[in-house]
Order: sequence, then structure tokens, then C-alpha cells
Amino acid sequence: MQTESRKIPVDIVDSEDFRLDVCAGLRQRQRSIPPKYFYDAQGSALFDQICETAEYYLTRTETTILDEHSAEMVGLIGQPCALVEFGCGSAVKTPLLLRHLDSSSVCVLIDICKPQLEQTEARLAAQFPNIKILAVCADYTQLQALPLPISCDLRPVIFFPGSTIGNYTPEEAQHLLRKAAKLIGPNGSMLIGVDCKKNPTVLNAAYNDKAGLTKAFNLNLLARMERELGAEIEPDGFTHYAYYNPALGRVEMHLVSRFDQVIRISGEEFWIGEGESMHTENSYKYWPDEFQDLAKSAGWDIEMFWTDADKFFSIHLLRVS
Ligand code: AVJ
Repeated sequence: MQTESRKIPVDIVDSEDFRLDVCAGLRQRQRSIPPKYFYDAQGSALFDQICETAEYYLTRTETTILDEHSAEMVGLIGQPCALVEFGCGSAVKTPLLLRHLDSSSVCVLIDICKPQLEQTEARLAAQFPNIKILAVCADYTQLQALPLPISCDLRPVIFFPGSTIGNYTPEEAQHLLRKAAKLIGPNGSMLIGVDCKKNPTVLNAAYNDKAGLTKAFNLNLLARMERELGAEIEPDGFTHYAYYNPALGRVEMHLVSRFDQVIRISGEEFWIGEGESMHTENSYKYWPDEFQDLAKSAGWDIEMFWTDADKFFSIHLLRVS
């Protein structure tokens, strides 16, 4: 007999947002689509595969830092705690922290991709039967309050790994960090992973893997528009283009039109010229002190930070100031 699939207790993702955001983004002069829409079931699976490629050093490096220092991190955070993960995805790194938590601690997983979130929650609940695992299907930027169990007096800590913060411009990142400080309250903390500036050759390779997974991840956005919005798009009309922009300190990912074409969505026509692009992602890179200045400007103190031998990636423990 098939067991009933787990029900995510809170689901606050609006399916109409995708259509509205895509259409608004395609009306702009530099067309753009918010990167959060990469993560439907297919996109989330592709992202997990990207993390396994030789070129995409981010996940591997962050995992190494966590593996080495997680006991110290949890010790500094203080127990018991309520660990709230923003954009958990398949939460491959979360167990490195959970293994050090005592049984009165709680872990709240937040992600916009519901099918993956259901699997992740089930996996972690089975792996850590003594820790209460909760899942909330939401865009963590839209939270009005931290989704903690009622009368939870545990020390709250936001876990925000993966350098997802890099998807926001420094101004947006400052705004999000300030909002996170308000959500977590006085004495709250945040453990955040940030990718570092480095040789552009390394960065360009990371976003142009040989197996073509990043390309497939980027192009999946068009397939998702076709699947969910009934968008009419020329097959093979776009190419994957990703490069490090040193002046802005970010990797930009685009979908570049291979010829003059028209995209139709809900009766609206978007005429796109040959060589014109839809900007699909920014991945900002920060020197550790550069990121720490940003965090300080957003109401956080720096308690500690860790990096790897190559200084490719950094993890910062922040405390609300
Ligand atoms: C999950 C947002 C950190 O920007 O590196 C991977 C997503 N994009 N390859 C990143 C991504 C292209 C990733 N983040």
C-alpha cells in the first residue's frame, strides 16, 4: 500500500505570480526574469546536478567548511535553537548542523519548490527522528514573521547557505538582511554562506559546465513558461550565456535570442531581436570584509567567519546588533 504523501503545513506560494512577474520582466528594456522561477521540480533537480559538477566549486567548498567547523558554529549559536533555513532546496548541507543539535531543537525548512520540499522534509525527519522538522512552502523574502511553532522560546537562527544572497543586488541584499534582522529579533543570529571574488576563469567555468547542466537549468525557464503559462516560444530560439562582470562583481546569466522572434503569453506579444537577451540571474561575489560591511550596514554584528584554504567561499555568523 502506498503511504500518503506528506502534507506541507503552510503553503503560501501564489501560482499567478509567475505569469505577472514574467510579463512585467519581458516588458522592460533590459528584459529580465527573477531567478527564483528557476526552481520548479525540473529546475530544482537540475540545480542539484549542477552542484555535483567539477566546475561548480561552491557547494563542495561550503560543505567542506561546514563539515570542519559545524560543531564550533552550533556551539557559538547556542542550544537549544530553532534553525530556520531560507531556500533549503534538497538541504544536503543541513545535516552537518543538525547532527550537533540536541533533541529539543527545531528545524524549519522554507522553500518555494513544493515537490522537492516534501521530499526534503521526509528525508530529514527520517534521518533525525529526535528533532522536530517543519516545512513551509514560501518565498522567504515575503515572510511577515518567522514561521516558528507557537510559544517557541528557542534561540532563533536563520541558516542561509549556498550564496543565495548573491542573487540580490547589494542594495536588495542589504534590504533583505535588514528584514531578516527584524524577523529574527534582538539576539537572533544568522549563519550565511557567501561566494568570494576570485579569478574570473574559475567563475566563468562554474557557470558554463562542460556537461551543459547550467545551460539546461537556464533553458528550463523557457520550458517552464511553456508548461505553466502556455507561452509560445520558438524551439531552440535562445542560447545560454553566462559570464563574470568584474566591474560589478557578479556573474550574469542571460538567455540570448538567436534570431528575431516573438514570444506570446496570454495574448501579449514580446518582439525580441537577434542578440537581445533576457537577464535571468545575478550571482554577486564578495570579499569577506566587503560582505561584512554590507551585513553591518543592515543591522548585524559579525561574530565569526570561516573560509577554505583557497578562500573561495565564506561562511559568516552574524548576530543582531
Ligand atoms: C543557488 C543562487 C547560489 O547563483 O550560483 C547555479 C544558482 N545559477 N548555477 C548561484 C546557480 C547557475 C546559484 N545559487
